[in-house]
Amino acid sequence: MNQIDGLSRVAVLGTGSAVPPGRLSNKDLEAMVETSNEWITERTGMEVRSVSTENEPLPVLGAVAATAALRSAGVERPSYIIFGNHKTGTYSVPDNAAIVAELIGVKCPAHDMSGGCSGGLIAEDIAANKLYGLLMQQLMRGEDISEVLKTTVLVLAGDTLTHVLDYKDRGTCILLSDGVGAALYGFTTNSTAIQEKHGYLGSYLMSDGALGRLLWWASGAGPQFDENLKYIGNAGTVDHPRHRGQKDFRPRFHMNGNEVFRHAVRKMTGAAEMLIQQLGIDQESEEYKTMLVIPHQANGRIVQAVIEKLGLPADNVWQLGVARYANNSLGTYMIAQDEMHTEGRLDKGRLLLKNAFGGGLTWGANLNRWALNPPTADLVMAIDEKLELMKEYYAKYKEWEARMCE
Ligand code: UT7
Repeated sequence: MNQIDGLSRVAVLGTGSAVPPGRLSNKDLEAMVETSNEWITERTGMEVRSVSTENEPLPVLGAVAATAALRSAGVERPSYIIFGNHKTGTYSVPDNAAIVAELIGVKCPAHDMSGGCSGGLIAEDIAANKLYGLLMQQLMRGEDISEVLKTTVLVLAGDTLTHVLDYKDRGTCILLSDGVGAALYGFTTNSTAIQEKHGYLGSYLMSDGALGRLLWWASGAGPQFDENLKYIGNAGTVDHPRHRGQKDFRPRFHMNGNEVFRHAVRKMTGAAEMLIQQLGIDQESEEYKTMLVIPHQANGRIVQAVIEKLGLPADNVWQLGVARYANNSLGTYMIAQDEMHTEGRLDKGRLLLKNAFGGGLTWGANLNRWALNPPTADLVMAIDEKLELMKEYYAKYKEWEARMCE
């Protein structure tokens, strides 16, 4: 008998998301940069962007998404929190995850990680492997596993990327938006789930630092260099030629959209194919043909290209996020996962593949065999409630922030 037969499996136990109420339409952008609704719609499929103000900082969005995911799972508190983001909140230190833990009233290990827009996939992979690692350690010690099976890892992924955009650069400011998605990972002890191998199946993740030049912004800390890489002083004190002569240094998003586009399509579909192959999923099987896919919602044309390359029916591939929110960074596919679950589009036992790419460059894919039934209404947090909670958490955040100045 295989030693792992009958062991509990790691799976998503609940999902959540938080999108700020502010919206920036294509028409609004027409008044800000030289662009048009027609150009944006045709080249990107985007209609509006979710944009946060100072009242919805990253940890507040994270705390709302976290609370929604915990409610969805029927779990009071997580054992760990991992927050994938590009450090677009006000603070680099402490970690946004630690602030989220404080806002939701939890003391637990809580840390941030990045990984570009693939960071949500990486965070999910770390969460699943953390849980399997804990289980394995306990088994190797020959000890009882019942406590370990109660462990959960809350994955948050998202950004307030609009805060590093240059609203004079039409090549980037039309694309990006704000929002956070969440998934609570834990063990499923359900015998059908174990028998039918529900839950997290694995990932394919990759990066290429040589392509870092295609999408980057400076941290706002550390030594600064001019165009010839000559040291010119520390951030905040220099007139930096690479940042359009801004004396008060402000990180600014740089991107070669065209090249990123080409890499995105190739690398996202390549990652999906590698993963499917590695996991031994038969591409002729009914399971593969009915697989649901959430590609990073970076551009409608990228999503279309992924659909064509994977040869799956368009209805199986999520594309609503592009028009609904635009590209809310590593939140796109985590928010989509939550919306798919809460809108009842994910059936138990169905394969769900997510794939993404982002600054680094990084890219990857991961696969879940969905272990949940569609949620009952009491497990889903309504938009109005989320907006109320955003206000509550913001008040708490300001109290927390005030204590920093004491
Ligand atoms: O999370 C990862 C984030 N990164 C991405 O997702 C980037 C992926 N890349 C893209 O989505 C696309 O490359 C863009 C939407 C950024 C650009 O679309 P494109 O079809 O690759 O356009 P392009 O860069 O080839 O530009 C075509 C033309 C240019 O004018 P000329 O040189 O042909 O006269 C641009 O200057 O369109 C012009 N253009 C615009 N025109 C109106 C570029 N941006 C705009 C704009 N409005 N916003």
